[in-house]
Amino acid sequence: MDQSSSLQGKIALITGAARGQGRSHAIRLAEAGADIIAVDICRQIEIVGYPMGTSEDLAQTVAAVKSLDRRIVAAEVDVRDAAALREAVDDGAEQLGGVDIVLANAGIAPGGGSGPDPERAFRDIVEVNLFGVWNTVHAAAPRMIEQGRGGAIVLTSSTQGLTGRGGNGDGGLEGYCASKHGVVGLMRTFAHWLAPHSIRVNTVHPTGVDTPMIMNEALQAHMAANPALGEAMSNLMPVPVIESIDVTNAVLWLVSDAARFVTGVALPVDAGFAIK
Ligand SMILES: NC(=O)c1ccc[n+]([C@@H]2O[C@H](COP(=O)([O-])OP(=O)(O)OC[C@H]3O[C@@H](n4cnc5c(N)ncnc54)[C@H](O)[C@@H]3O)[C@@H](O)[C@H]2O)c1
Repeated sequence: MDQSSSLQGKIALITGAARGQGRSHAIRLAEAGADIIAVDICRQIEIVGYPMGTSEDLAQTVAAVKSLDRRIVAAEVDVRDAAALREAVDDGAEQLGGVDIVLANAGIAPGGGSGPDPERAFRDIVEVNLFGVWNTVHAAAPRMIEQGRGGAIVLTSSTQGLTGRGGNGDGGLEGYCASKHGVVGLMRTFAHWLAPHSIRVNTVHPTGVDTPMIMNEALQAHMAANPALGEAMSNLMPVPVIESIDVTNAVLWLVSDAARFVTGVALPVDAGFAIK
């Protein structure tokens, strides 16, 4: 491996690590030499219209990282619960030797529309996708500052954090769009706060990714019933959805020394969606 993308000796906190992009990040970062602190809620949030990650999913991530001869400490924690998250991060950091990388990746989407209570959907989505990211960074950053060895943080936003395309009055989609735009604001203020400590902070903005968040019956039925939404969500390049590894490769670059002076950047991984 190119020396500049080696993560040998680094420890990475990843939220939403049970499956999807979070699992892909965990495996790829472990391949690059990192040990992993993996967090996932592993239970359902009522307003989410598709099955969320499970304990079995998280166990699969753990097994995959261990099979690469890397260490992993996993915890079933809701990123909305600041105290529990801090405890999980402290526990993982003490077992593994600190935290160098944070991937605030956990998130929810409404699935097939927000259902009977759009206000609740809006609140729950903002709480997980925005407040959860704030909690995640605050659970790790003080320790990273104290360690004095720099670091890198990537917050997972979305093309919905750069555009409002597809907006149709649905409270859940509005909560998703608002929270993902909010993550960009957090990234910018965190980048200012942490730059003096050589800790870099960036966002990634994926277009549709082939994970259970969008590859589910509820959303497919919702799209079929709303063809304009499907058209609005299409990419500039001729690809319907990208793969988790496409996002992981961007994340790997952002957290590696190859990007050592890249901070405060909102990086689309979107097949041209944002400029369409
Ligand atoms: N899939 C897409 O099309 C797409 C596109 C752009 C951005 N994103 C974003 O990418 C990130 C990863 O999503 P994914 O595509 O892998 O979806 P996913 O649903 O497969 O994975 C998300 C994981 O986060 C976990 N999670 C959700 N809420 C949590 C909470 N409160 N606390 C802890 N863990 C929680 C889930 O259990 C799940 O395992 C999310 O932030 C999502 O909004 C996804």
